Amino acid sequence: TRRPRVLSGIQPTAGSFHLGNYLGALRQWVAMQDTHDAFYCVVDLHAITVPQDPKQLRENTRASAAQLLALGVDPRRSALFVQSHVPEHPQLSWVLECLTGFGEASRMTQFKDKSARQEADRVGVGLFTYPILQAADILLYQAEQVPVGEDQRQHLELTRDLAQRFNSRFGRTFRLPEAYIPKDTAKVYDLQDPNAKMSKSVPTGVIELLEDPKRSAKKIRSAVTDTGREIVYDPENKAGVSNLLSIYSALANRSIAELEQDYVGRGYGDLKKDLAEVFTEFVTPIQQRVRSYLDDRAELDRLLAQGAQRAREVAATTLARVYDRIGF
Ligand code: ADP
Ligand code: NA
Repeated sequence: TRRPRVLSGIQPTAGSFHLGNYLGALRQWVAMQDTHDAFYCVVDLHAITVPQDPKQLRENTRASAAQLLALGVDPRRSALFVQSHVPEHPQLSWVLECLTGFGEASRMTQFKDKSARQEADRVGVGLFTYPILQAADILLYQAEQVPVGEDQRQHLELTRDLAQRFNSRFGRTFRLPEAYIPKDTAKVYDLQDPNAKMSKSVPTGVIELLEDPKRSAKKIRSAVTDTGREIVYDPENKAGVSNLLSIYSALANRSIAELEQDYVGRGYGDLKKDLAEVFTEFVTPIQQRVRSYLDDRAELDRLLAQGAQRAREVAATTLARVYDRIGF
């Protein structure tokens, strides 16, 4: 049977992805390769919606791709590419921009949130049209499913509206994508502030995949818990312990119930020590693989060029049809 096509992208990050990115998104990218026809991209065009240092951006893009490969994205099974290598993204984005109402774009809450934190003159128009580029990313590949978190739902709705609008004005061209909620996604919380989502903006409680595992182990051992002693999953009253349990469960592939059973009569210190070991075992071979990808630039570039070629075969077909329908 034919596998549903899935498209997902991630921005190139400075330093490395964090454990939340892995357990909340990238682990599912790897798993979806068994069930989907996957197109995955490092979205460097999206990254320049805020200022970037060119040298850093290039390095971050490569390092991000190396991490995706090291985590298990398999370039023989999936199209793994860098967004800027496929010029059809901005080409389709322009067409879609011309179909988007100004008011419609203005209602995107993520833009409101992000722009509210900056001075008006420093907010680029690219940040405003970001969701339209995202729509182009998805529609170019005729993706049927798009894994989305809560904060991206509105953008997927816009994507569907634009696809429908184009189809009804110019004739059926785009497939309407649906939100896909992957199994086994874990939301990871900050180790120092377990009520906040783990994020690079709070550097103290974030575990970076490429930092020294000794450093990560130390962060795990000093994670904020509570004054109780019982190791039970209770996110409301025991946010810290629950976060450690869900990370442990995801990394060790064991159910939370099983872990709770294991830790009856044992202390938080035992749980943290064991989780630190589990994490170290998980991350050590990944770091080795990242290093070997980064040491062989030519091979990494070859893989990405191959991914871009595969992506362009699909993207160019869609764009040619779009241009034809428009009258170009
Ligand atoms: P975005 O702005 O698209 O959320 P991020 O770099 O913050 O970009 O995250 C990339 C991916 O990692 C997204 O799919 C996001 O949902 C996921 N993610 C980020 N932080 C966490 C977290 N703490 N727990 C689970 N998933 C997360
Ligand atoms: Na984010």
